[in-house]
Parts: sequence; C-alpha cells; structure tokens
Amino acid sequence: MFDLLIKNAALPDGRNGIDIACAGGIIKAIEPGISAEAKTSIDAAGQLVSPPFIDPHFHMDATLSLGTPRLNVSGTLLEGIALWGELKPVQSVDDIIERALRYCDLAASTGIGAIRSHVDVCDDELKGVTALLEVRRLVAPYLDLQLVAFPQDGLLRSKTAEKNLLRSLDMGVDIVGGIPHFERTMADGAASVRRLCEIAEKRGLMVDMHCDESDDPLSRHVETLAFETTRLGLEGRVTGSHLTSMHSMDNYYVSKLIALMAEARLHVIANPLINIMLQGRHDTYPKRRGQTRVPELRDAGMNVAFGADCVMDPWYSLGRADMLDVAHMGLHVGQLSSRADMEWCFEAVTTNPAKIMGLEGYGVEVGCKAHMVLLQAKDPIEAIRLRATRLAVVRNGEIIAQTAPDLRELNLPGRPQRLDPADYAPKAKG
Ligand code: FE2
Repeated sequence: MFDLLIKNAALPDGRNGIDIACAGGIIKAIEPGISAEAKTSIDAAGQLVSPPFIDPHFHMDATLSLGTPRLNVSGTLLEGIALWGELKPVQSVDDIIERALRYCDLAASTGIGAIRSHVDVCDDELKGVTALLEVRRLVAPYLDLQLVAFPQDGLLRSKTAEKNLLRSLDMGVDIVGGIPHFERTMADGAASVRRLCEIAEKRGLMVDMHCDESDDPLSRHVETLAFETTRLGLEGRVTGSHLTSMHSMDNYYVSKLIALMAEARLHVIANPLINIMLQGRHDTYPKRRGQTRVPELRDAGMNVAFGADCVMDPWYSLGRADMLDVAHMGLHVGQLSSRADMEWCFEAVTTNPAKIMGLEGYGVEVGCKAHMVLLQAKDPIEAIRLRATRLAVVRNGEIIAQTAPDLRELNLPGRPQRLDPADYAPKAKG
C-alpha cells in the first residue's frame, strides 16, 4: 500500500505514460502500469510531473514591502538600495516575519520547494537575520530555506558589517555573501571578496556573492572571486550572482575570464526579471539588456541557474513567486530559442539551482524525496510557454496545494465551447 500514486505522467526527460508511487515521503517506484493500492491517487492524464521549482536567489527580508516608505522613482539599483536603507530602521522583526511568511505561502502554491535568500546583515540589531531564522524554522515542513549573510551596505564601506556578518553566521545563517561593486573603490571591492572567501574557507561554508551588478564593463570582481576560489580550494562551493557587467565587457577579456571561472567551478545565477528592469538605465539607445552571458557560461561547463531576486520590493514592483515567469524572461533576454535551449531554461529553474543549493534527494527518481509538481503542460517547453497552471504541488508525498485547470468557456457561434490553451500547440519538429 503506497501513500500516493500518480498515474500516467510525462517526465521532463521525455518519458511518457509513467506511474510514480510514493511511501514514507520517498519515491519508491517509477514505471508504467503500477497496479498497487494507494491512499491517494492522482491521474496526471499525460501531463508533466516535475521536481519542484527552486529559487536560488531571493531577498526575503525585503519582499512584499513595495511602497514602504515610498516608491523607487528612478528605477535604479542605487535608488533601491537607498530606499531599503529608509525602510530598515522603521521595520520590526514581526513585520519581516509576516511579509516573508506570506511570500512563502505564494511560493509553495506555485511549486517552489526551496529558496536561497540573502538577508541584510548591515543592521546592528540584526532584525532581518532574527526574522528569517524564525521563518526558516516555521516553513521547514514545506519549503527549504537557505540564508546568505549579505552585507548590503558593503563589508568595508559599513563600519560594523564584518562584525554583524560574523554574528549572523554564529546565529545559524548558512552562507557567506558580499557586494564588492558597492564598496567605495575597486580595490576595496577586491579586498572584500578576499576577506569574505577567507571567512568561508575558515568556517567551511559556501559563498554566494552579488558580483558586478552594474553596466560598468570594468567592474571585474568576478575575476577576483574566481581567483580567491582557486587559491583557497573552494572550487564548486562558490556562486557568482547577477554578474551583469559581463554583458558589457570586452569580448577578448571575457574569453580569458570565462576560462578562469570554469577552472574555479563557479556556479552562476542570472536574475532576468530584475536585471532587464534595472540595467541600461544610463543608456540612451541602444539600451543594453544587462543579463550575464548565460549560454556562454553554460557552454564553458559551468552550472548556471535563474533566480527571482525580488518581488514587490524597493527594486522591483512586480512578480508573483513564479519560477516559470523567471524562466520565460531569461529565455527571451538570453535569446535561448532553440528547443534544446528552451528545455535547458526549465533546468535553470529546477535541477541547476538544486545543485547550487546542494539539495539532497532532489529529483523525480526512485529514492528521491517525494516532492513534485503536476503541471498543465505536456513538456517543459510548453510549461514555460504557458507559464502552466500548477495543478498539484506534492511535498513528502502529500498534496499541499492545488489549482483548478485553465479551461476557458467560449460563447462564439460555430466555435468550440471550451478552450484548453495547450490544445493550440502545433506539433514541433526537430
Ligand atoms: Fe540580489
């Protein structure tokens, strides 16, 4: 007797007509025609069953604060940072917990199973850290939350940043963050990368650094990040987030840089929704897109993922906790339009970020945790195209969220009465 049996599923790797049986929170069997009894049964009707969406880059201490205390008028990263600086002193731990929990509800309903959130440690009271450690505990049954100690005001630029970063790690924050492009000088930026990597090495932690989130082609802190990673033997444990200056760098320099990054086995996170909005703000026309070189980094052998970064906060006014929105935007901005590239974009919000976070038992495979999402789509490309409805979200073999299918009623003479958007896809070739 199984706890859950999903019948007739399609899987992201192209297998069809598959049954998935779960017991004790674990996937016990994946094969066609499982006939055993189960307490709960779902007929997938040929639709896609995916492992959960993973958001590897978010700011949960700021989310859902849009308009408090005011809106970002210029739309720039720097006004966003200034605005966040106005909100920090007036918000309470309870405010942050309340907003973060509401965001986690949304995330669970769209099939997000894990989030890596940066948490600002440039606050002597460490309100964000206190709040998000509590949120991590509260949401653990349905969401894996990883926290990055993020010195938003600059490790060296802010007098108490390092002390507070170390305190937050002592309190249980998981990962070392940074923001070298916000230090006062390029030299200080490089020094901050060195110091932060040394802290991570000493404590045996991972690193995830906001790096070169600017349109300045000479913002080259990712070079230092790759160098320090190799020098300290941190290969495979370090992530460069945003990396938008790479969009604007000289091609010859990038040909050297990418090899150094690959040698350091850096992971890379692009945040397409926020960076297509923030970058190029000082350009007239043509306006730069500002997304890092996603396909080139991937093709050099690096693990590349997409993150959501911001939802309704000082930097970004929109968003709905939906990693298919993120994949859809990343696909467009990166011109990732071949069928193989579109399928890869689905991996960039599922398996690739799971690797970055080091999630154990992730995947729709026998022996993995029974965390899954049933989508109203036949395959990953259709899931991105339609930003497909999450029909069911499964956690530990139990259904934790359900959404009614998108089926539209029509009242047009001589036309169908019911429209399923997925029925309008021509058969793709090749
Ligand atoms: Fe960020």
